[in-house]
Amino acid sequence: MPRILIQGATCVLPDETVVANVLLDGTTLASIDAPRTSRCDEVVDATGLHLIPGVIDDQVHFREPGLTHKEDLHTGSLACARGGVTTYLEMPNTNPSTVTQERLEEKLSLAASKSVVNYGFYVGATLDNLEDLKKASRTPGIKIFIGSSTGNMLVDDQDVLEQIFAETSLPICAHCEDEMTVRENARKLGNALSISDHSRIRDRAAAVISAKRAVDLAHRHGHRFHLLHASTAEEVEILKDHRDRITGEACPHHLFFHVGDYERLGALVQMNPSLKTEADNRALWEGLLCGAIQVVATDHAPHTLEEKKRPYPESPSGLPAVENSLALLLNQVNLGRCTISQVVSWMCDAPARVWDLVGKGRIQEGYDADLVLVDLGREARVENRDQLTKSGWSPWHGEVLTGWPVSTWVMGTRVFESGRVNPQARGREAVFDHGRGGFWKA
Ligand code: DOR
Repeated sequence: MPRILIQGATCVLPDETVVANVLLDGTTLASIDAPRTSRCDEVVDATGLHLIPGVIDDQVHFREPGLTHKEDLHTGSLACARGGVTTYLEMPNTNPSTVTQERLEEKLSLAASKSVVNYGFYVGATLDNLEDLKKASRTPGIKIFIGSSTGNMLVDDQDVLEQIFAETSLPICAHCEDEMTVRENARKLGNALSISDHSRIRDRAAAVISAKRAVDLAHRHGHRFHLLHASTAEEVEILKDHRDRITGEACPHHLFFHVGDYERLGALVQMNPSLKTEADNRALWEGLLCGAIQVVATDHAPHTLEEKKRPYPESPSGLPAVENSLALLLNQVNLGRCTISQVVSWMCDAPARVWDLVGKGRIQEGYDADLVLVDLGREARVENRDQLTKSGWSPWHGEVLTGWPVSTWVMGTRVFESGRVNPQARGREAVFDHGRGGFWKA
């Protein structure tokens, strides 16, 4: 493989930001202090650009196998490459669901044949697959739908949950929305529903009750736990109180949209957990800025526009985001809300630490050559017609963002450059070393 010298980029390192020459040797980041005269096969002039580690999105739904009219592992990975995401961790609610080692390995070999960026797959919990969860390997961890969402993977039985937290050793993450609360809210609202009822049915109480339940389980059983897609101020408080074993995540849609957006965007912003208020948007931002929330990930959950046009509640929950998440956050850097180092911490370093990823998340010698050049000054409009996700749309369509990825390398291979993705490139299986003990120990 060639040696590539990225010259003169402003490199966002773990503890400082410096102008440096970075040398990639094959799949490895060989030097962050390379002489301009280093022997190499290609020189990339990165003057005026920032070099950051590739984004690790720890929550995507790429729909393969089973729902590939919405997305597949190839199209999802093309969207990643364009968005600066070099590794994705994909959720088990495909069809069939990923609930055994055999299913996991099927997905891993599919990804090896068609994914342009690096990949990993969660194993999903069911009411009766404890033995599979105990044996699972080559996975970031266990996903539990403690609240139901797309698919049929609800695990709400307390005894089963106790057993999973007591008897498994892989890290656990969960979708938290209390099923009883959701059903009772739906019953009270009856049949004449409109899209804004989505946030009344899946209300803040549903999210908070379920998050408390999961955190209690993790605490009592001494189990690592990652709270996916926090959507309320109360969850931020819960995360603040449990910093030893618990980590948390916020998604761009919960940071940028609120219930007022149903009027403009309708079911395009229907997702689970549902949108909450502007005050919740602010609380999630504060959670990120104070370190109570460590990770920004997308919950990329594509559905076709046709499906989204069905009348509520037939319209499905979820939206595509992997292609624009980094730009959305870089835009906030330009607005002065956060720094680029914080963005790198939330989107690269923290997810690598939460899931014990080997060689990823940082610009550091010996790490994998997963890198993104970003142009903080580039201004561009999000357009549905440009999206590489098979679903072909974005809830941010029409928004002008400043700060975009312009080049993406995956294991030393340039997969995105000058607006074009290389569809022939292939990523690698991500490696997890769970002996590291997760975010708070790494
Ligand atoms: O809105 C959502 N859609 N939330 C989830 O947790 C699942 C996702 C999907 O798979 O469609």
